[in-house]
Amino acid sequence: MKAIALTRYLPIDNPESLLDVQLDQPVPQGRDLLVAIKAIAVNPVDVKVRAPKDTVEKAPRVLGWDAAGVVQAVGPEVSRFKVGDRVFYAGDITRPGSNSEFQLVDERIAGNMPQTLSFEQAAALPLTAITAWEALFDRLKVAPGKSLLIIGGAGGVGSIAIQLAVKVAGLNVIATASRPESEQWVRELGAQHVINHFGDLPAQLKEQGFDSVDYVLILNDTDRHFPAAAAAVAPQGMICTIVENAAPLDVSLLKAKSAGFIWEFMFTRSMFQTADMQEQGKLLDQVARLIDQKTLVTTLSQVLSPINAANLRQAHATLETGRVIGKIVLKDF
Ligand SMILES: NC(=O)c1ccc[n+]([C@@H]2O[C@H](COP(=O)([O-])OP(=O)(O)OC[C@H]3O[C@@H](n4cnc5c(N)ncnc54)[C@H](OP(=O)(O)O)[C@@H]3O)[C@@H](O)[C@H]2O)c1
Repeated sequence: MKAIALTRYLPIDNPESLLDVQLDQPVPQGRDLLVAIKAIAVNPVDVKVRAPKDTVEKAPRVLGWDAAGVVQAVGPEVSRFKVGDRVFYAGDITRPGSNSEFQLVDERIAGNMPQTLSFEQAAALPLTAITAWEALFDRLKVAPGKSLLIIGGAGGVGSIAIQLAVKVAGLNVIATASRPESEQWVRELGAQHVINHFGDLPAQLKEQGFDSVDYVLILNDTDRHFPAAAAAVAPQGMICTIVENAAPLDVSLLKAKSAGFIWEFMFTRSMFQTADMQEQGKLLDQVARLIDQKTLVTTLSQVLSPINAANLRQAHATLETGRVIGKIVLKDF
C-alpha cells in the first residue's frame, strides 16, 4: 500500500523529511478495523513528533492522527462496525498513523462518520473534536450559562471548541484571535466576544464586562497564558490546558481562589487502554449526530490533493507558521 513515512527527523524544507513509500497492508486482529483511508487532517502533534532530532528509525514510521475512510475488513472481536461502514477517528499515538492507504484502528475509538459530510469535511474533525469535547465535558465539567475564555480560538481545536461550548454546552464564550481574519472566523463559529491573545487578557475581559470567567481553556502557549488565566479565572473556577509547558507552572496562583487546574490529552484513553476508552467512539458518534442536525459545522478550511509526501510537507510547513485558521485536510491517494 502507499504510505507517507519518515526514517529521519528533518526540517520540513528537506524533501526527505516525509517520503512516499510502499508498505505491507496490515491485517486486523481482535477489535481492530482495517480502514481504507479517503482523507486525513494534519495537526500540530504531527509536527511535534516529526521535529528534527538525531534518531534514525530502522523501519519507515507513519505519522498522522486524523482520518475518514471506509471499513475494509474487521478483526474477529469487532461488534460496532461492519465492512463498508464510513468511519472517522483520530487513532492511537502509540500505533502507526493515518498517512497510509490502509490503517488499523481499535473500534472503540472510532465513530460513524457524519452522513451529511464528504470524507474531507469529516477528516477535519476527529482529533480536535475529541480534545474539545473531553476538555469541556470530562475535564472542566462545564455547566450551562457560565462563562468560558478560549485562548487560541481560530485554530483546529478552538474552531470546534467554540461551537461545542456555545451551541451544545450553552456557555457564554470569549475567544481570542489576533488578526481580522481569525476574529471574523471565531465570530462566525459563535463566539460572543473576541479579545486578542497578544494583549492583556484580564484587562480586555474587563472591557468586555467580565471581572472574571468561570472557565479558561488554554489551546496555545501555556507558559505565556497561564498567569493571565490564573488572574482571570473566577473563585472556584477551573482552568484546562491542552498544551505542554516548558517551565514549571505556578499553581499557587490558584490557591486563594480554590480554583482548579486540569490537563486534557486526547491520547490518554487509547495510550493507557482505560476502561472507558469506548467513550471516545461514542463521543464521535454524538459529534456526527450534531453535524447531521446542523448544530455543528465542519472546521475544514483548506484541502490538498492527492495524499502524498509533497502535499503533506506543504501542510506541515503551513502548520509550523502557527497561523492556521480551521483545519488543513489532504484527500485521495
Ligand atoms: N492535549 C491534546 O490532546 C491536544 C490536542 C490537540 C492539540 N493540542 C495542542 O494544542 C495546540 C493547538 O492545536 P491546534 O490544532 O488548535 O493548533 P493550530 O490550528 O495550529 O492553531 C493555530 C491558531 O493558534 C493561534 N495562536 C497562535 N499563536 C498563539 C498564541 N501565542 N496564543 C494563542 N493563540 C495563538 C492562531 O490564532 P491567530 O491567527 O488569531 O493569532 C491560529 O489561528 C497545539 O500545541 C497542539 O499540539 C493538544
